[in-house]
Formats: sequence, structure tokens, C-alpha cells
Amino acid sequence: MAETIRVLISEQKVDQRIEELGKQISADYEGKSIHLICILKGGSFFMCELAKRITVPVSIDFMSVSSYGNATSSSGDIKIKKDLDDPIEGKEVLVVEDIIDSGRTLCYLTDVLKGRGAKSVRLCTLLDKPERREVDVKTDYVGFEIPDEFVVGYGLDYAQKYRALPYIGVVEGI
Ligand code: IMP
Ligand code: MG
Repeated sequence: MAETIRVLISEQKVDQRIEELGKQISADYEGKSIHLICILKGGSFFMCELAKRITVPVSIDFMSVSSYGNATSSSGDIKIKKDLDDPIEGKEVLVVEDIIDSGRTLCYLTDVLKGRGAKSVRLCTLLDKPERREVDVKTDYVGFEIPDEFVVGYGLDYAQKYRALPYIGVVEGI
């Protein structure tokens, strides 16, 4: 069977939800500045859209951690491939991720970031697959909870393909 993409969450629904998250985050951080940390590459599309809708001052930085390669599940062995450019000491950090699956990536990262003296570390993920969780991670902002299916689009890839789709889709035929 050839690889096809079934739309799970339309572009309009994703945009609407990011708008809501932007409002909620702006209200929660009223009077403060937010240091957004984007987890590359998947979180990049979401972070840009979210940052545009946050009304308090934001600064941004990027981090890249080892991914699955071409597999569709996490090996559990996480490494920092690209570290932050700037120190986070004393900053209100909001980690922006594409999806939480096993939770291993974010569990590891939040420990690392808290250890560097951030004033606060919160998590914002566009998608969450709660059924797949293997380690406990506290999410502060979740765009959508989705079932246990492998999704692409809006930054998410399958073997580096489909990141630029403007909606969330399920890959079929793999
Ligand atoms: P975790 O460490 O298992 O929570 O994995 C999180 C990372 O796995 C995410 O940042 C994604 O890069 C990747 N991932 C998990 N599920 C999917 C999916 O359905 N599609 C694409 N990438 C995924
Ligand atoms: Mg990722």
C-alpha cells in the first residue's frame, strides 16, 4: 500500500487552538517576559505561530535533542545535539515541543533546564499522546490530546518528510 496522509486536525482547528493557547499563556505570564525554548526541528512551526500570539515580551532560543532516526518510537537514549545559545538563569522558561509521546525527551530536558537555574520551567506541547506515556511529565499547556497514531505535519515528520504540511495528519500505509 502506498503512503498516504489522512487529515486528523485541520489547519483551521490548529490555528484556532494556537490562538487560544497564546491568550492563555499571555494571561498567565502577565507582567513577565517569557523565554521560549523550541525543541528542534518539530517544535519550530508551532513556536513561531505561538510566539506571534503571545502579547507579553518573548525571547527565543533553540535546542536539538537526539531523535528516533527513522523509527517511529523512542529509544529512550537522549542526547543534546545542539545546545542553547544563551544562559537561562533567572528566566521564565517555556519549552515548546511538537508532541509528547513516551515523555522521555521532556522528562530529561526539564531536569537539565531546571538544573541550570531557570526561575521557572513550564511545558507547552502542540500534541499529547497520553496513552503512550512511559515516564511522568507535567504538561502546562496542551494543544490537543490525540490517540496513539503516528502523526505528521505542522513540524512533525516521518523520516524527515511532511513537516511543512499546514495540518496534522496520520500516515497510512507504513
Ligand atoms: P518522547 O520522548 O517519546 O515523548 O518523544 C517525543 C518526540 O518523539 C517528539 O518530539 C517527536 O519528535 C517524536 N514523535 C513522537 N510521536 C511522534 C509522531 O506521532 N509523529 C512524529 N514524531 C513523533
Ligand atoms: Mg521532536
